[in-house]
Amino acid sequence: MENFDINNLVRENVKTMKPYSSARDEFKDFDVAQMIFLDANENPYQNGVNRYPDPQQSSVKAVLAKQRNLKVNQVLLGNGSDEVLDLLFRAFCEPKTDNVITLPPTYGMYGVLANINSVENREVLLSTDFQPEIESILEAVDANTKMIFLCSPNNPTGNSFADESVVTLLQNFKGLVVVDEAYIDFSKKPSWLVELDEYPNLVITQTLSKAYGLAGIRLGICYASAAIIAVLNKIKPPYNVNELTQRRALERLADKEKIKLEIDSIVKQRDDLLKVLDEVNFVSKIYPTEANFVLIKVDDATKRYNELIAKGIVIRNRTTQPLCENTLRLTIGTVEENKKLMEALLAIGQP
Ligand SMILES: Cc1ncc(COP(=O)(O)O)c(C=O)c1O
Repeated sequence: MENFDINNLVRENVKTMKPYSSARDEFKDFDVAQMIFLDANENPYQNGVNRYPDPQQSSVKAVLAKQRNLKVNQVLLGNGSDEVLDLLFRAFCEPKTDNVITLPPTYGMYGVLANINSVENREVLLSTDFQPEIESILEAVDANTKMIFLCSPNNPTGNSFADESVVTLLQNFKGLVVVDEAYIDFSKKPSWLVELDEYPNLVITQTLSKAYGLAGIRLGICYASAAIIAVLNKIKPPYNVNELTQRRALERLADKEKIKLEIDSIVKQRDDLLKVLDEVNFVSKIYPTEANFVLIKVDDATKRYNELIAKGIVIRNRTTQPLCENTLRLTIGTVEENKKLMEALLAIGQP
């Protein structure tokens, strides 16, 4: 997009504010091993976590940037991608004035964050095959529309959005197009990361909570132009990613083989489950999935949900979501868990 200037989107108070400067930020270029730090009111006795963590998470970002073939200044980390998404709202959306566009049925936090930040959430439903309705989306845009959220692969539907739709939005929308790729590692489609240099309004979020198996440490990632990342860095809480999280992420990111094996196993399990679902008599539709879950349409979602609970299996009833009447979302578990799920589904389907 020509003449894109991120400063036109940044909130006025964010543009003019002086960011908090943490003690550790000021001395990052010194030889820390040779220095005595009496600046941050920490307990001096070593126990591995008595010091504040690196506010810029330089080691984790360096690994991610290398693995993704990006520059470190195109990466921002947060306490889960939920924090990253919240930072986007706070940086770019003026409360009670600006709006964002979301495409239900989709990940619920976009709407929740819009609400918390007093930002209007303009909902433009996906089509019945769960694809973005580009014309309606562009019609919903006005001068105060700051972001469009595209979740691809989408939660809870499992499908990816058509490339042409994403490109049309990137080319025609003058705000930020945020592509949430929480489930990208389960998809055969490439990440939109390779297009970052092409589109200055592209923002991509990813997470270590899904394929990387680290939901418990809370590490979310934002990839964007250096200019966008600089704005988010200005407003993020100084120590938003704790020391234990940074260490655990580094260990896991080094274990590429193991992550790949786990992803392959989950994808295989997903394919096995799809075959069994075909035989379950109360399942009327199995939606195509590129994620670690499957959305199915059944005769009576609440009844089937309760029957599975009675067998000790908890899934997600999505029946109240738009376009999702009588649907259930099933996450792929371990081989044993999936076996139990498949047995349970077949058993409750018996007349
Ligand atoms: C589409 C999507 N984005 C983001 C998240 C949240 O990720 P995180 O655990 O990094 O906050 C989820 C969690 O379910 C999700 O489904």
